[in-house]
Amino acid sequence: MDMTMRDERVAVPAAAGGYEIHLAEGALARLPGILASTCGAARCALVTDETVAALHADRAAGAMRAAGLDVRIIAFPPGERNKTRETWAAVTDAMLAAGLGRDAAVVALGGGVVGDLAGFVAATYMRGVPVVQVPTTLLAMIDASIGGKTGVDTPAGKNLVGAFHPPRAVVADPALLATLPAEHLRAGLAEAVKHGAIADAAYLQWIGANGAALAAASTGALLELVRRSIEIKAGFVARDEHERGPRKLLNFGHTIGHAVETLSGYRLLHGEAVAIGMVAEAALGERLGVTERGSASAVAALLQGLGLPVAAGEFDARSVVEATRADKKARGGQVEYALIRRMGEGGVAPERWSIAVRDADAVASLDALRGDGAPC
Ligand SMILES: NC(=O)c1ccc[n+]([C@@H]2O[C@H](COP(=O)([O-])OP(=O)(O)OC[C@H]3O[C@@H](n4cnc5c(N)ncnc54)[C@H](O)[C@@H]3O)[C@@H](O)[C@H]2O)c1
Ligand SMILES: [Zn+2]
Repeated sequence: MDMTMRDERVAVPAAAGGYEIHLAEGALARLPGILASTCGAARCALVTDETVAALHADRAAGAMRAAGLDVRIIAFPPGERNKTRETWAAVTDAMLAAGLGRDAAVVALGGGVVGDLAGFVAATYMRGVPVVQVPTTLLAMIDASIGGKTGVDTPAGKNLVGAFHPPRAVVADPALLATLPAEHLRAGLAEAVKHGAIADAAYLQWIGANGAALAAASTGALLELVRRSIEIKAGFVARDEHERGPRKLLNFGHTIGHAVETLSGYRLLHGEAVAIGMVAEAALGERLGVTERGSASAVAALLQGLGLPVAAGEFDARSVVEATRADKKARGGQVEYALIRRMGEGGVAPERWSIAVRDADAVASLDALRGDGAPC
């Protein structure tokens, strides 16, 4: 047997029923069997975006139909701008028009936008139908498809309407990444750096040492990265499904990241915004005495080596901090930040995962980053 076809499985416990992440080159071929054993649905909505539809939907749908499933492909225009309530309504209406009932299942084939949106459709359709996540971007494979967070953006900010709706299974097939444009591959690497920064210094070193192979999408290096990142993400979800404690660490870089992502009008990719956010939040942590000195420049150097942006300089510090207020993590007036203590260790103190930050500190730290010319 070809060793690359070995099916590695990572189990993720969940209150509503645990699930498995199937990781293997060629795992897409197993989708029909996985659907049968985890959902038992005869009819499926294959929800995807138009770009992924053109590249991969026929193969996925063909395999499902060959196994006797009735499949309806529903594609919406690609991009974060379409992760909206309007698209949620359009996809839901298409499912209703197709006569899909309570016994249907949703297959989310695409990046994090498709996963979040199709997951939210599944969470709400007929008060909830099963979803199987089939991530096709690096970012979705190592982060967004795992953990059950689903939702849409609103003009007031990102992910403000949504639900926890764990998938019945995740099918992670790195072969699907072969068609992914380089900038989206790099954006995914930002979330891998986040995993290393909050949980595993050795992993960070490995990413740094293998930067060239990763940027060139070398199959071996990518498979190794996907495996380790899935382990880390699944580990946090297993410890804290509903993000009351350690799972908050996965938000490192995301408070400022979401703010600059929104302010850029989604010109910045999510992973690019998170790269900028991690540098800014490491600098903020240094200012607050939470984060070891030198961490901001170390994470900036690593991200720059991977071809990611690190400068928040084009955004006015006050506007960024204003935009962080729209984030769900704002509680009782002050905005919560998940910081790191040092490269490879998340948190703000032992067993403390986040910290409320005064606007003045956040503004001063962003201004300082701009002022000294480095690392921004
Ligand atoms: N739910 C979570 O826990 C979680 C975690 C992290 C990020 N997210 C969300 O994920 C989203 C970002 O996800 P993303 O970066 O995957 O963006 P995305 O879904 O927009 O995909 C990026 C682009 O790549 C294209 N694409 C996807 N797969 C492809 C393939 N195999 N070949 C060629 N093109 C392909 C898409 O059409 C799109 O244009 C954000 O909305 C973010 O909030 C969610
Ligand atoms: Zn993210």
